[in-house]
Amino acid sequence: MSEDAIAAKSWPLAARAPGKCILFGEHAIVYGKPELVLAIDLYAQMGIREASSLSLNGDRRPLEHNPYLRAGVDHFGAAAIPLELRVTSRIPRAAGLGSSAAFCANLATAFSAAAGGCSRAELHQRSFLIERSAQGVGSPGDTAAAVAGGYLALNDSAGAPLWEITDGDRQWDVHRIGDPGWIWVVAYSGVPRNTADAVRRVAERLAAPDGPRLLDELEEVAHEGISAVEHEDRARVGALLTRNQGILRQLGVSHPRLEALIDALGPATEGVKLTGAGAGGSVVGLPKVGREQECVRSVAHAGGLAFIVRPAREGAQLIGAPS
Ligand code: MEV
Repeated sequence: MSEDAIAAKSWPLAARAPGKCILFGEHAIVYGKPELVLAIDLYAQMGIREASSLSLNGDRRPLEHNPYLRAGVDHFGAAAIPLELRVTSRIPRAAGLGSSAAFCANLATAFSAAAGGCSRAELHQRSFLIERSAQGVGSPGDTAAAVAGGYLALNDSAGAPLWEITDGDRQWDVHRIGDPGWIWVVAYSGVPRNTADAVRRVAERLAAPDGPRLLDELEEVAHEGISAVEHEDRARVGALLTRNQGILRQLGVSHPRLEALIDALGPATEGVKLTGAGAGGSVVGLPKVGREQECVRSVAHAGGLAFIVRPAREGAQLIGAPS
């Protein structure tokens, strides 16, 4: 696992960071409740070299088109530096699988190296602030996975403490949870989702009289889910995934395409739920042992795209410079 620092290096630089899926606690984490997030072995890669003008994958006006890049160069005071950025990714965009967090973590890794290096805790803080500033809402859960890899619990006492992340007077604790060695299935519905819209929708729903009760239930399920993963209790994790989905449904962030994938995955999984902001995006399930390929077929039949995933053991890393 990577709690190592980012070394000082000069351009050209390349970085690689994993995507994520949230197992328990999405949306609740925005309100300081616990979350369990898993870095998955779908990666995004970014190469950066000095050039005559700023560009991103050939786009010569990237600051107007990519709010994450704009937030990143603002954060590092680097808007005037002419750089050529190349991004390639296996993480589907707007799918709830952490493509923005991986982009921010790659950017922060490369720019931090060029600025003299930093600790991994500082790398997470920077990646989160860039993502937060571009999205306007959100928690450090997604960037925790992109920066640290593996299983991470936020705002729960389980596991080994890594660091704290702050935003003004708000604070989140990040802990590393042991890897039970399981294989997961994630499935993209093909319906793009928007995190900021979903977070605002949930805020409205939580203002209803039963809102506090729903938030308490999410908190309870997330604490129990983290404990069940720690105890490697597959049946309990499956039941809690299903219960978490029931609450997310009541919060109004499910979608008919997500429900179709959940139905399709039901028989071959211990449990399945939406992952990330919802209202589109993806689902995550824990396949029954040996039934992973059945999951892929069932998802395809239901019109989704399945990925069999394992934990990404490494968070964001510098890799060989781009040629
Ligand atoms: C997005 O992947 C998860 C949300 O909880 C928002 C956030 O934590 O930033 C919906």
